[in-house]
Amino acid sequence: MQIDLKDQNIVITGAARGIGLSVATAFAEVGANVFILDLMEPQVSQAVTALTERGYAAYGYAGNVTDAAAIEAIFADIIAQHGRIDALINNAGITKDNLMLRMKEEEWDAVINVNLKGTYICTQKVFKYMMKQRAGSIINIASVIGLMGNAGQANYAASKGGIIAFTKSCAKEFGARNIRVNAIAPGFIVTEMTATLPQEVQDGYAIAIPLGKMGDPAEVAKLCMFLASNMSTYITGQTIAVDGGLTMY
Ligand SMILES: NC(=O)c1ccc[n+]([C@@H]2O[C@H](COP(=O)([O-])OP(=O)(O)OC[C@H]3O[C@@H](n4cnc5c(N)ncnc54)[C@H](O)[C@@H]3O)[C@@H](O)[C@H]2O)c1
Repeated sequence: MQIDLKDQNIVITGAARGIGLSVATAFAEVGANVFILDLMEPQVSQAVTALTERGYAAYGYAGNVTDAAAIEAIFADIIAQHGRIDALINNAGITKDNLMLRMKEEEWDAVINVNLKGTYICTQKVFKYMMKQRAGSIINIASVIGLMGNAGQANYAASKGGIIAFTKSCAKEFGARNIRVNAIAPGFIVTEMTATLPQEVQDGYAIAIPLGKMGDPAEVAKLCMFLASNMSTYITGQTIAVDGGLTMY
């Protein structure tokens, strides 16, 4: 059996750069139609142009995952023009790190809103269509921080731990409709998000990681492809770490 994602319609949030763009590129390379949804308008167009110039089917939508009306309109447009959404990858995410003593309410709210509420909004809006299709795969990008916590990231850890619990609940609700919901917990992956970590912090993590290095976004993309595809039809409600062995539960 071979992985088959040809002509599948895959929506990826936060896909203008980083892990999301790598995921979109990987799906496009195997013949899927990719829908890049991101806040950053010029970067959305750049990403779509880069993929279409390589002959791939890519479409861009500028939108904020916390804006329910905007997400509803985007998904309705994809359905009107392309008929179905086979997989949604809830990848948009932010950090606003601070120690608890100093953490501002705005920092707490912003991270919970984008990471957790954004995942809820996109999932609820896509469910409407997947329910009618009686098929679909939803992949939520959590984090190892949601499994093990991290000093200075209580807001981020709460949002990612929330995504893991949300994933299990949705898997239970949606299973009878043949819609699978899984989470991926990336470890330390080289992107703009982690580029700001001080070198000594990065070196410290590399020592703690059994595979001895930070990960590449493409390594997260490969698991997304597996979870969206015909290769994982009996897998739902799971959280799978892509972390070089950093967490083992
Ligand atoms: N890089 C890592 O090491 C790592 C580890 C674990 C989990 N993650 C998770 O992976 C995901 C992607 O991370 P990344 O490293 O590629 O980050 P990134 O900052 O490079 O990319 C995130 C993308 O999300 C977009 N975005 C942010 N808020 C948005 C919103 N409200 N609506 C729509 N788009 C929005 C940004 O514009 C950006 O393009 C995040 O959910 C992050 O928490 C990353």
